[in-house]
Amino acid sequence: MRLLKSIAELREARAAAPGSVGLVPTMGCLHEGHLSLVRLARAKSDTVVVSIFVNPTQFGPGEDFERYPRTMEADLAALEQEGVDLVFAPPVHEIYPDDFDSVVEVGSLTRRLEGEARPGHFRGVTTVVAKLINLVQPDRMYMGEKDGQQLRVLRKMVKDLNFAVEVVGAPTIREADGLALSSRNRYLTPEERRAATVIPRALAAARERFGAGERDARSLCEVVRAQLSAEPLAQIGYISLADSETLEDLERVDGRAMLSVAVQIGSTRLIDNIVLEPGA
Ligand code: PAJ
Repeated sequence: MRLLKSIAELREARAAAPGSVGLVPTMGCLHEGHLSLVRLARAKSDTVVVSIFVNPTQFGPGEDFERYPRTMEADLAALEQEGVDLVFAPPVHEIYPDDFDSVVEVGSLTRRLEGEARPGHFRGVTTVVAKLINLVQPDRMYMGEKDGQQLRVLRKMVKDLNFAVEVVGAPTIREADGLALSSRNRYLTPEERRAATVIPRALAAARERFGAGERDARSLCEVVRAQLSAEPLAQIGYISLADSETLEDLERVDGRAMLSVAVQIGSTRLIDNIVLEPGA
């Protein structure tokens, strides 16, 4: 495994890489969720590239860019173990030199949910991922369903701008009690960690009601709200039941839909989602 810190080194290694290339973009602090993507990439690609870059432009003012966990040594050990070929971990000025002055922006998909709660967030994500795709020129890029809106936004960018990469979505990896793995789970105190289990319980309750035949979006969201409200440490950001493609709010679930939530637990903001599909 080679660790590359400059664009020049990356370009050189990419030019010499044999066969098909799989890219897994990350911000590091790797957990089993990230590693599941690496394993998918490893199984399908001749060369696996993982990027580790805590991207400043996707954090808003007052968000957790400064305190975002950085665990480079452990990350590299884990990636070595998974048989990764190339790790691209550039410093900030390599990606954003002082005169950097361009953005990539996806439209209406980014104005909802996370985009509404975190203005500018997706502009930062699409800009950095566009750069990573240009640099690595992967055949496939692996992304988690955990960040459901991000996955859809990046698929849209790739389609609209004709990037020659296949975006592969992968299922959310969860703890035994259902909490979705996230680098931000590290921020939780033991008490908050217990409280956070309300999130998968709330989503599971809605799935159960859906399984029993409920199709009314407001009723399904109400099931989630009732559960989340019962946890005093949880503050609801949003509860959304939306078309899985357009992310437009639904009144009824007649096709594939994404039920997503943002919940603040103490000082930590967590997101999660499930897909509901009639007849699935
Ligand atoms: P990061 O939060 O590090 O996530 C990197 C990838 O891991 C994303 O595709 C994310 O959806 C996936 N992931 C995170 N938790 C997961 C889980 N529990 N199960 C499965 N996959 C999971 O998302 C980002 O970084 C950044 O926005 C990035 C795309 C790298 C751009 O900066």
